[in-house]
Amino acid sequence: MSATLIDGKALSERLRGEIAARAAALTAAGRQPGLAVILVGDDAASAVYVRNKVKACADGGFHSVLEQYPASLTQAELLARVAALNADPRIHGILVQMPLPPHLDALQVIEAIAPAKDVDGFSVHSAGQLLTGLPGLRPATPFGCMKLIESTGVALRGKHAVVVGRSNTVGKPMALLLLQANATVTVCHSGTPDLGLHTRPADIVVVATGRRRTLTADMVKPGAVIIDVGINRGDDGKLCGDVDFGPVREALSPGGFITPVPGGVGPMTITMLLANTLQAAEAAA
Ligand code: GUN
Repeated sequence: MSATLIDGKALSERLRGEIAARAAALTAAGRQPGLAVILVGDDAASAVYVRNKVKACADGGFHSVLEQYPASLTQAELLARVAALNADPRIHGILVQMPLPPHLDALQVIEAIAPAKDVDGFSVHSAGQLLTGLPGLRPATPFGCMKLIESTGVALRGKHAVVVGRSNTVGKPMALLLLQANATVTVCHSGTPDLGLHTRPADIVVVATGRRRTLTADMVKPGAVIIDVGINRGDDGKLCGDVDFGPVREALSPGGFITPVPGGVGPMTITMLLANTLQAAEAAA
């Protein structure tokens, strides 16, 4: 028997149902949740992500606006749009799609977003709230990973969790969320000499490196929970994660859990963006 699949699509649909019900209650009170998405330039992948975010808003009963600008947009023009959205009472969340064209200063743009509307959770304010254990808006991908782990019924208190990857958007906030849930947390990265040494005894492993086969069957123990944040293309052209899925799934049994790619973490990211926008709208109300 191989490890149990964690169905991110099903969990995402269940959560979106709950989010839509709460959004409808706010709308009935004249306070429909609203998300603004800014896309600069013509990056094809970003255009797809942004379309999916706007569609998710419509499906959830949220108000949304999509502002698209050419790559020639200046920093001052972008900051002016962020300032206008900060002041717009119909907008509770502002998302500036990354990456921005190289002449734009992404950090300055993120910092210009009102903290209460930082639904990506990428600002220094939001990062500080997470670091200090204060309530706030959490980055969507690691927030979604926490929900996936929760859905297994495996309690985190006292468990050993290993995060592979140290990005500001996934690895670092993931480690802090696990720590807040009372796990003992190890953070590994591209400079870790022997990754398996750390992952083999781990109860939970979250892999976010963007490299195929980062985690192989010899690096996990039976019964562990494996969360695969990666989205890569295999030699066969099919989507795959950072985990060597088939062999790792076998090595986890009996009793383990693993997210597939696609259908694991991916569907949760937009769901948690909606959850954050709802949270911001409820706080504003
Ligand atoms: N680009 C890829 N993922 C994201 C995300 O979650 N938020 C933003 N703003 N840009 C992204």
